[in-house]
Formats: sequence, structure tokens, C-alpha cells
Amino acid sequence: MNKKRTGMKMSISSDKEVAKRVKALLKKMSLEEKIGQLNQVGGADFAPGPKAEDQIRKGGAGSVLWLNDTKRFNELQKIAVEESPSGIPLLFALDVIHGYHTIFPVPLAMASSWDPNVPEKSQTVAAKEARAAGLHWTFGPMLDICRDARWGRIVEGAGEDPYLGAAMAAAQVRGFQGNDISNPERMLACAKHFAGYGYSDGGRDYDPVYLSETQLRNIVLPPFKAAVKAGVATFMSAYMDLNDVPASGNRWLLRQVLRKEWGFGGFVVSDAFAVANMVIQGHARDRLDAALRGIKAGLNMDMSSYTYTEGMVKLVKNGLLKVSEIEELVRPILALKIKMGLFENPYVDEGLLEKVIALPEHRQISRWSAQRSMVLLRNEGGLLPLSKDLKNVAVIGPLADSMEATEGSWMVFGHKPAVVTVLQGIRAKLPGAQVTYSPGPEIRRDIPSWFESMMAGEVRKPAQSPEEAEAAFQAALETARAADQVIMVLGETDLMAGEAASRASLDLPGRQEELLKAVAALGKPVVLVLLNGRPLSVNWAAEHIPAILEAWEPGTEGGHAVADILFGDVNPGGKLPVSFPRKGSHAPLYYARNLTHSPEGSPMYNPRYWDGLPVPLYPFGYGLSYTTFEFSNLKVSKSKVKVGKSVTVSVDVTNTGKVTGDEVAQLYIHQKWGTDTRPMRELKGFERITLQPRETKKVTFRLGPDELQYWSTNAGKWIQDATEFDIWVGADSTATLHADLKVVN
Ligand code: GLC
Repeated sequence: MNKKRTGMKMSISSDKEVAKRVKALLKKMSLEEKIGQLNQVGGADFAPGPKAEDQIRKGGAGSVLWLNDTKRFNELQKIAVEESPSGIPLLFALDVIHGYHTIFPVPLAMASSWDPNVPEKSQTVAAKEARAAGLHWTFGPMLDICRDARWGRIVEGAGEDPYLGAAMAAAQVRGFQGNDISNPERMLACAKHFAGYGYSDGGRDYDPVYLSETQLRNIVLPPFKAAVKAGVATFMSAYMDLNDVPASGNRWLLRQVLRKEWGFGGFVVSDAFAVANMVIQGHARDRLDAALRGIKAGLNMDMSSYTYTEGMVKLVKNGLLKVSEIEELVRPILALKIKMGLFENPYVDEGLLEKVIALPEHRQISRWSAQRSMVLLRNEGGLLPLSKDLKNVAVIGPLADSMEATEGSWMVFGHKPAVVTVLQGIRAKLPGAQVTYSPGPEIRRDIPSWFESMMAGEVRKPAQSPEEAEAAFQAALETARAADQVIMVLGETDLMAGEAASRASLDLPGRQEELLKAVAALGKPVVLVLLNGRPLSVNWAAEHIPAILEAWEPGTEGGHAVADILFGDVNPGGKLPVSFPRKGSHAPLYYARNLTHSPEGSPMYNPRYWDGLPVPLYPFGYGLSYTTFEFSNLKVSKSKVKVGKSVTVSVDVTNTGKVTGDEVAQLYIHQKWGTDTRPMRELKGFERITLQPRETKKVTFRLGPDELQYWSTNAGKWIQDATEFDIWVGADSTATLHADLKVVN
């Protein structure tokens, strides 16, 4: 094997050729080296364990994570390629969830665009920058369906719906990987967290999950299956017990579903320390047992708990494990390294990154993604868009000039100072105006996040005293009093959503609502901009603040994108990918529910809580525009169709307002009766379209077995009933334009 390589040569990536090269490599590798490929080393100070160099030098590492240092990547790669016994290059991995240097809207925001081009273009740039930095593999997309907004990691996914989630999953995989992973501007994607992580009771992060096979196969698994169909290279197993078996030791998930049924050919990495964690979870007897369970379940790589390198030789010696079982899990790792061309080009050009991140189109795409991801929740009396002739504007709130809240979750490897905050975006939009600013009282978690101690290069300020907070409150009021227009920027900080960031309430944290009420009482026109990573129960604002823009965590260009929308340069067209509960205790709350014998609107209807109806403040699929739209002429190509055959559903959408805008036509079905009871509505088609004033476009959807079949635990298989369907098409999950469809044998 030629250990010294120079110049960029493209790899040989035909499957046959790859298999031949893998076989030759395995032939010469020692057992320890084979096990080493299954070991992912923590490359950061916070990661406990043996020194990375030592493990790499003896061929004891296949990958390094949590390192973000281009020079260091080459140093460690040189040890692997030029000093280890077989010279097998490393995979460098990091959580590039919504951008590497140029930061994009968080995934929940990208899903709010209802436009797969948004995540695809965003993750294409993310991959290009990350690869230029020397990274090969990202731990994204996160595909966990979540219907409980108390769960902090809802921010990382695509919300509550499997159909929208599947579309966003495939788009992210295309963005990260493109159609050829030997392209040096692409990186390996990782479908995570397999599976069910978003369903813990009360949204309590890491807690156990109990799901029926009906819920798993009809709700939780479809985005993962879509990722496999899109060619995702790797998976990550989730932390938690799924029906009392940790995902990292779960043969049903990793062997039965992922490999046997879906034919997945890549490899699975555990979540951080998750193999060893099986001992803590009371599942494995000890580390050796945990390692055995991981391997037997089909878990290829142990993320930084070192159980594989520690115990696997012993397991082979004790006859509990065959070398062939180990080789079976090593093959896809070697194959991907060959397909990426790492054997030919293991190093990164250390001068490349600064050129790549300076490309202007990266920030342009970030701004475009943010514009398309924002959702207009209210615009009473057409207060928005605001006039650019405004002369005296007050921007108020603890997040208005917050780099962290604008960039959002998963920036543990360092926030990027290049971000444009909402305050900066508004000042740039109104160069001739007086734009004052007052943060008001700070907001912070009641219990600090353990990520705070890991945030690269950030020291969080000490908490404000009550006196300081009151002074800040009064100062903000004074600032508002002196202005003609007030823009409040409220919500959550970056660490109030994300990992280990679940909360019982969905209210605005701290004294934000109190400040909002006090400012509104001044009688000035008030616009509310929300920066947040989860639905919030902004009930009072929804009644009393005329204009509300859901900006989520919009990324590097977030401030410009907010100003583009507030001042009318962009007409918002986003839609909610998740229902907004009125209270945290109403969660889990979602639109795709069964009717029950006491449905809303029926004489038998029973208000599920006598202290307030658990109906969403804003429903799934909801979002306004600066114009208006009308849906008409809903048609189904046939009123009756055979099982297994398809129909076309078409609808006319008209822009009935005065400005160009985007609408998202959404198709929902309801199976009226059948083998199993099915939800009262299920999204089975969507398309975002742009319409000029008075323009009409016909939108068509296909409805066939893919959309009408479901997994029936009753029948123990996928089935399509001969039955009758309601069909609705409209602007959100409460659409009323209706048609019927009969399916016959
Ligand atoms: C974390 C997260 C996972 C992430 C991994 C590596 O604990 O659960 O999403 O990719 O560790 O950072």
C-alpha cells in the first residue's frame, strides 16, 4: 500500500472494485485493527478516554469526532496513514446540523419552508464548508418525529408529521451527500437518532420510549426509510430504551428493519458513549456484555465509549464472537472510506477553508433559507409590512441583539461572530431612521445546561440581580415610550432548546410576557418577532399583539431576513411543521389524531380538559401571507379506484390579493373505516407555489398505494383497505375544501 500520497486523484468507486479492495484490506489487517475500525475516538478535551494519537498509531481508531481543527485533522490523519500498521485513513466527524461556518436556519425552521430546496441547498453549502475544514461526516439529518413541544430536541427535526419529515429527510441527505460521495465538496450524512427518541413521556430528554409497531412503522420510521431511499451513508442509534431495549443494542431496529427490510448497506454508529451506557441503563451486565450486545445487534461503531477496543478480542477468545461477525461490521466502514477516495486523498488543503467560507453565495443562500422558513402568525389590520419611512423605531427584548439566539441550537463548537442579529438587520434596513434598542430583563434557564461548560470560547455572564432586572425592565419601557413603532424580539435562548433542554412549560421564559404587556399598554403599534427552537404558548400575544412573525433560529443572515419580511422586501410563505399548544400540559398535541367516539363538533363531544380545550393556538400547516389565496375546483380523476391503483387530485389556487406571494397547497386524507382506525387527517401531499396577484395555478397530487397503505398491527403487515376516504386540500391542516374517494377490490 503506497503510504505517501500527493495530489488529488479520484477514487475507484465501482461496487465490485470496492468489494475487492475491502477484501484485500481485511486480509492483511490484524484482529485488533479490524476492531479499531469500529472505534470512534473522542477528539475533544471533554471526551474521557485514552489519547487519540496512541489509539490511532496502533490502528485502534476508525474515526475521530468532536475535533474542529483543520491542522489537527492532518496531523492525526498522517499518523493513521503513515504510521499505523495498515495505513487506513480516519473519518473526521462533527455535528454540522445547520451549517459549519455559514449558519442556516435550524432544521425545524427549514421544515417550515415546506420547500425541500431549502434544506438541500443549505446542507450543500454546509457540506462544502465542512469538507474544506477537513471534516468527512456529519451527524445529521436528525429525523426524530416529535409531537411534544416540551422536548428540547424538537428544534433539530422536521416537526410532527412523517410525510413532511420524509421529504425533508431526503432533501437533507441530497444536500450533504449529493449523488457522489467521492466529490470533495460532499460529506457522509447520518440519519439519527434511530429510533423513536422524540417520544419520551412528557418530552423529558433521554427518558425511555414505549411505542407500538403501528406508531413506529406509520409515524416514526418513514423519515428514516426515506433517508435510506435517498442513499444515506450512515445511521446513528438513539440513546434511550425503545420498548425496554436500548436502541444501540436493538436487533429489531438495526438488523430486522434497517438491514433485512430496508436493505441498508452503510454503517451504524452509536450515540455518544451509548454502548457503555447500556450498563447504566440496567440493560447490560458490564462493559463486555454491552460490547457483545452492540455487535450482535448490528451496531458497527462505538462512539467514544471504547467498549469494543477494550473487550472484543476477549469475546473472540471466549468463543462468544466470531471474527467473521466483526468483519461483517467493518466492511461498510472501509467501503465508504474507499468510495470517498480517502485512500487516494486523505489530507485537506489547509488554505482551502478561508476561500470557501468567503464565497458570497453562501450567505445569500443562508438569507434565502431564512426568508423562506419564517412563518407569519398574525397580521391584524395589515400592520405588516412596515414602512421604510419610519423615523423612530424601538427594538426591544433580550434576544434582539443576541448572536446565540439568532444562530440557534447545536453551536457547541463555537458561535460565529459573523451573524446579523435582528437589531442589526433592522438598522441596516432603515439607515436614515433612529433605531433604539433596549434588552429588558435577561432570560436564562432555571437549571443551567451542561453544554454551557462546553461552549467553545464562551463564558456566560453571571445572572442579573432582581434590581438590575427591574432597572432593565423600566429602561426598556422608556425606550418604547420614546418611539413611534416598537419591535419586540422575544423567545428562547439557544440553550433553551436542543439536547438536554426539555421544559415543562411552553410560556415565554422570564419576564418577557410581562414586558410585552407593559409595552403594549403604551398604545404604540407593536410587532412581535419570535426567536425560538420550539412552539411557544404565546396565548396573550396571539390576542393582543397585531403582528407576530415566527422567525425560529434563523442563522447567520437571520437579522437581514427578519427585516426583509418586516419591511416588505419579502412576503413570508412559511407554514408550521408542528402544532402550537396553548399550554405545555396539553402536549403531546398533534393534528393526525383518531376521531374517537367523542369527536369535536359531535353531540357526544367532551372537552378533553374542563380547564381549557386542548386545541392548538396555531394548527399544523398554518401560516399567513401579505396577500390572500383561494382554493377552488378540487377534482379527483376518478371517484372510484381499485386497491393498488392511483388517482390524480387537482385544485386551483388563486392569489386574490394585491402582492405576489407563496402558498403551500396541502393535501390531507382520512380513511373513514377499515382494518384499523386511521387518523382523522393525514398529510399526503404538499407543494409551495408562487402566485402573482390574480394569478391561478392548478396543483396536482398523486394518490396511490404509497399514500393509502399503512402498517396494521391488527393484520401484522402493510395493507391497503378497500374503503372510503375524505380528501381535503387547502392552506393548513384545517382545510375545508373536500372531495370523496372510494377504493374497491
Ligand atoms: C450527542 C447527541 C447526538 C450527537 C452526538 C455527537 O449527545 O445525542 O445527536 O450527534 O452526541 O455529538
